[in-house]
Amino acid sequence: MKINFASDNYAGVAPEMLRAIENANSGTVPAYGSDPYTQSMQDKFKAVFGETARAYPVFNGTGANVVALGSVLRPYETVVCAEKAHIQVDECGAPEHILRVKLELISTKDQKITPEQIREKLVRRGDIHYAQARVVSITNSTEYGTVYTAAEIRAIADVCHENGLYLHCDGSRISNAAASLNTSFRAITTDAGVDFLSFGATKNGALAVEAVVFLNPTLGLDFEFHRKQNLQLSSKMRFSSAQLDCFLDESYWRKHASHANRMAERLEQGLKQVRGFELTQKRQANAIFGTLPQAVIERLQQKFVFYVWNELTNEVRLMTSFQTTESDVEAFLSALKT
Ligand SMILES: Cc1ncc(COP(=O)(O)O)c(C=O)c1O
Repeated sequence: MKINFASDNYAGVAPEMLRAIENANSGTVPAYGSDPYTQSMQDKFKAVFGETARAYPVFNGTGANVVALGSVLRPYETVVCAEKAHIQVDECGAPEHILRVKLELISTKDQKITPEQIREKLVRRGDIHYAQARVVSITNSTEYGTVYTAAEIRAIADVCHENGLYLHCDGSRISNAAASLNTSFRAITTDAGVDFLSFGATKNGALAVEAVVFLNPTLGLDFEFHRKQNLQLSSKMRFSSAQLDCFLDESYWRKHASHANRMAERLEQGLKQVRGFELTQKRQANAIFGTLPQAVIERLQQKFVFYVWNELTNEVRLMTSFQTTESDVEAFLSALKT
């Protein structure tokens, strides 16, 4: 089997998550979230994110993003995001197809958008001919493996709130972001002014579960209807909730995300010694972007699986996960040298 540097989604399920599922598998409990595991998970989200947090399990990240945005937007409102945001390039047009919303794109080299760029989008406010920006969506860690700091998020949130917009965070890899910054989930969400969050668990070892988390108490009050109507309501929710409950322990999420980040750092250090390798993004979490000669890429792909991100420039993405081992990293680096 080829060694995986393609995606953290290629990894299996962490043993703690399987144990959480197993532990929840006794007897019968009410369905659709009226069970004690879901209550306990909701209490845990409040303890971790603050008293206002309300968490709703969903099946996947695309579902989390689309249903979360749909619960906040009116039909004539738009989402401002980076031009390579997952909601723009990797959700098969689901926001447009399901929500029928317009995304307003910001060009950026590192996938991080700035308060100034957001201000430039806030034109023709109140003009009935022009769709009105209502949400800014950022991704942390970003699709290019870079990380927004708490201060950067706060500055974005301030522009949003001064102009009547809400701040959404696609936190598909929020564990990697928090581990990279050596900070808490709360510091880069609730305390930084994020209004609602797609909380990622699957990429850091969970099985088929993410959560939509409302931090702003005025939002998402009818979210449960949106979730059901958009096919994201789990009948046997206890198994999703039990995983999220366990996931929220620092001893779980930080351990696994820090490991993934550390493996990426080690890989990056080795790659920097290789002639012909050029880093194209700052590595801050568990993804490395850089260019390699095409012949080297083709040789490596015989033993390793990873994405060629840009065929024109021979840019590749190497991604680590909680399952990446030091010997995987060593194998890649020594294959590069031969
Ligand atoms: C930034 C980001 N957001 C969201 C997702 C969630 O996608 P999925 O619907 O595959 O769970 C991904 C998955 O790759 C992602 O990279």
